[in-house]
Amino acid sequence: MHAFEVIEKLRVVPVAVIEQVESALPLAEALLEGGLNLIEVTLRTEAAFETIGAIRSSYPEMIVGAGTILDAGVLSRLVDLGVGFGVSPGLNRSVAEEAQRVGFPLTPGVITPTEVERARAMGFNRLKFFPAEASGGVKMLKALAGPYGHTGIRFIPTGGINLGNAADYLSLPIVAAIGGSWFVDKKLINDGKYTEITRLTREAMSLAAGNS
Ligand code: 3PG
Repeated sequence: MHAFEVIEKLRVVPVAVIEQVESALPLAEALLEGGLNLIEVTLRTEAAFETIGAIRSSYPEMIVGAGTILDAGVLSRLVDLGVGFGVSPGLNRSVAEEAQRVGFPLTPGVITPTEVERARAMGFNRLKFFPAEASGGVKMLKALAGPYGHTGIRFIPTGGINLGNAADYLSLPIVAAIGGSWFVDKKLINDGKYTEITRLTREAMSLAAGNS
């Protein structure tokens, strides 16, 4: 199954900042235990690539994505590691073009109508809406659904989403899935609170299932 199909079925993407590679496998186990075989590992830490490799080799059933893709140069390495999808905070032409050249599923980040149209013209129809809460959130997405709802474009809002507002996003037809760190918080990971991560993951999954 294509990574985007899995994301749209599960509807919740855990966005993880992993600082110690030792956290990789217990975190993956905690998510799997919570019913989620999906993770976005942000490329913000030294440990990111090794973390991705460790999860890929120990849990091949897990769809591993890479977040915070800022440079086109990393894409071939991600493809070699078996990364299933990528996420950029913005719409960066060199990253977008390289992703298309190597056939790598990318969700570039957008907020404005101009950015949405630029991404669409480049052939992207799964877009990260970032930073969601700081940029108008649900209200902005409802407005964007007017001109773009019929085009096949779907958004993955991230940035400021939590258990309190997740259902509002998930109820919008223009929203394919939501992303967030609230259930894989950096502090929970660094403190080794994996049982709590499993509990929060189950809670997020049941909320997503109730809004599918
Ligand atoms: C990010 O790229 O940091 C994501 O959008 C996650 O945002 P959050 O930490 O506010 O959930």
